Amino acid sequence: MDIAKWTLITGWIFVLIWIPIVILSNRKTHPKALFVLFFAEMWERFSYYGMRALLTLYMVNVLFKGLEGADVKALSIYGSYTAMVYLFPVIGGLIADKIFGFKKAIVFGGILMMLGHFTLAIEGSNLLFFTSLSLIIVGNSYFKPNISSYLGTFYEANDPRKDGAFTIFYMGVNIGSFLATLTCGYVGQEINWHYGFGLAGIGMALGVIVFLLSGKILGKNTGLKPENTILPAKRPFSLSWDVIVYLGTLIMIPICAFLLDQNELMSTLMLIITIIIIVYLIYEALRNPDKIAGQRLLVVIFLFFFHAIFWALFEQAGGSLTLFADRNIDRMIGGSEIPASLFASFNPFYIMILAPLFSWIWISLNKKGNEPRTSIKFFLGLFFLALGFLVIVLGGKFFSSAEGLVPMAFLAVLYFFVTVGELCLSPVGLSMITKLSPPKIVGFVMGAWFLSISLGNKLAGVIGTLTASEGNVGNETAQQSLINYTNAYLIWGVVVVGGFAILLLILTPKLNKWMNGIH
Ligand code: PHE
Repeated sequence: MDIAKWTLITGWIFVLIWIPIVILSNRKTHPKALFVLFFAEMWERFSYYGMRALLTLYMVNVLFKGLEGADVKALSIYGSYTAMVYLFPVIGGLIADKIFGFKKAIVFGGILMMLGHFTLAIEGSNLLFFTSLSLIIVGNSYFKPNISSYLGTFYEANDPRKDGAFTIFYMGVNIGSFLATLTCGYVGQEINWHYGFGLAGIGMALGVIVFLLSGKILGKNTGLKPENTILPAKRPFSLSWDVIVYLGTLIMIPICAFLLDQNELMSTLMLIITIIIIVYLIYEALRNPDKIAGQRLLVVIFLFFFHAIFWALFEQAGGSLTLFADRNIDRMIGGSEIPASLFASFNPFYIMILAPLFSWIWISLNKKGNEPRTSIKFFLGLFFLALGFLVIVLGGKFFSSAEGLVPMAFLAVLYFFVTVGELCLSPVGLSMITKLSPPKIVGFVMGAWFLSISLGNKLAGVIGTLTASEGNVGNETAQQSLINYTNAYLIWGVVVVGGFAILLLILTPKLNKWMNGIH
């Protein structure tokens, strides 16, 4: 049996055994809503990552096949797509805060994403393809930030179980992405592209169904439309605000479809929007009559940049690290070669194993009164990320073969540390937003938080090309490329990330003070 099929089957079996164990062992600690949101998000991420695994390959091999510069075009569309996916949640969050409430925003977003995946499953024109992608972008902007904010509402701001809950939720995210990469990738490439996309759509449909069927568990009075929001009294044609949102969404779809093919414009737009949002948040923080709320928002703004740096290096996984695995890792095991792309599933796999452990560690440290504060967890996130890169640099410099190949174990250890870092920082970041934002704008702040991931992805591309411009043009020898990669990882992964970690440590006392009692 080939290795892709083998990992597919064992991956599913493992997950089917593992999920009940984790849920059963946590059911007494957390409200049932956590598990509903866990499953809804798991299927949403299944659809998102399943489709993402196929997207570039599909564009290069089918949609733009034979076109000159197909690779560059596909990669630039991919870049704009991922940038927009994390750019627009700020609007989806705002609409949930002001008009829809979390529940409605999640269902509406889920349905749009589902439609997008299903239209991708239909063989059709480029126009249909771009429209499908923009349905997913717009849908995601309603779904993804709001499901995290909604989870926060089931716990008090300073509930000691909150980081643990978000860590379990994050495990759902990664089970979705793990299964998706294995399954949709396999079905799409080996059987039929459109079946792969269709499968992603079925995943999303399951997510919406789980959510809708669990109304009782979530409770009637949660995630409702906001009351007493101040909205402009004048409305075009006296339409209701809900209808205005639906129409606005309809208009956004062709706009996103157009922007997908405008990489330069997208980059500029992203930068402008990010600056506007940051300036606005600073303004909100400083002019807030409630000094405590203002200071808490300032903490979010500071951590925004550290979060972006984390993702910039983390996202090398899908880019330069995969090329590195391809060129400079000794991938032979007993006569058969492991495909470079398989290393990408190390991360979600480690998360599945480690997330319950981390959730438990945070909660039990809390009981003993020595759980690290959020800023320290962020520091640990950056520290482990830098440690991961240090491992690969050491492997490259001291343990490589004469042919420029590094033993596979180094990459496995790199991914291990990077994942430990991710668990210290990413779920904790989501949890922190729900603790530090004023409840009325939590959706918006969560959306703004996602901008830092968008920025991180953009930076990741820049760092990736910097490693390339230092000589990695693809036709150099393995010995040369090894030197280029290890030097680039030493500078960016170890020195820059390490520097940011130290800076954060210096800022910690101030940030802790500004959190005003929130842990
Ligand atoms: N892998 C994470 C996810 O898909 C990346 C992420 C973290 C996205 C935090 C948004 C916020 O959810």
